[in-house]
Amino acid sequence: MTERATDPADPTEHHRATDPGVVVVVAGAVYDRGRLLAARRSAPAELAGRWELPGGKLEPGESPEEALVRELREELGVEAEPGERIPGEWPLKPGYVLRVWTARLLSGVPRPLEDHDELRWLSRRELDSVDWLDQDRPAVAEAALRLPQA
Ligand code: CDP
Repeated sequence: MTERATDPADPTEHHRATDPGVVVVVAGAVYDRGRLLAARRSAPAELAGRWELPGGKLEPGESPEEALVRELREELGVEAEPGERIPGEWPLKPGYVLRVWTARLLSGVPRPLEDHDELRWLSRRELDSVDWLDQDRPAVAEAALRLPQA
């Protein structure tokens, strides 16, 4: 797979997959009162017990921001507002890449409705206290830099 460099001057960049054969998974660095939301996966077996930024696959015709809002609603039962994209793109399994946006909680209390069995709100100093999926770690580090003060 050839990757094209991101062009920050191109406002449509975030709405296009680099390669139409690649599945884009969007995840949210969800903030609330100076904490970042971490979600523990309950499935599949090889990922269960590891922590991630909640999200899921982009569906046809959706923008990444729309997909993120939908996934957070389905998985956590909350309404959230996407913010900025965290620079970078991380390979998952072959044919899948992860892209991450910041998001602010608008309403609802997150509950592990789908895919997860535990949620935690982590302050900056607590971010290393959970076993993050390897592919999420660079995004979590960037998210920590953007963590709003409580
Ligand atoms: O909810 P949906 O079925 O659309 O997607 P998912 O199963 O939550 O995520 C698709 C793939 O991306 C899975 O292999 C997840 O493990 C992976 N993923 C990840 O590595 N890191 C995230 N923050 C979110 C998803």
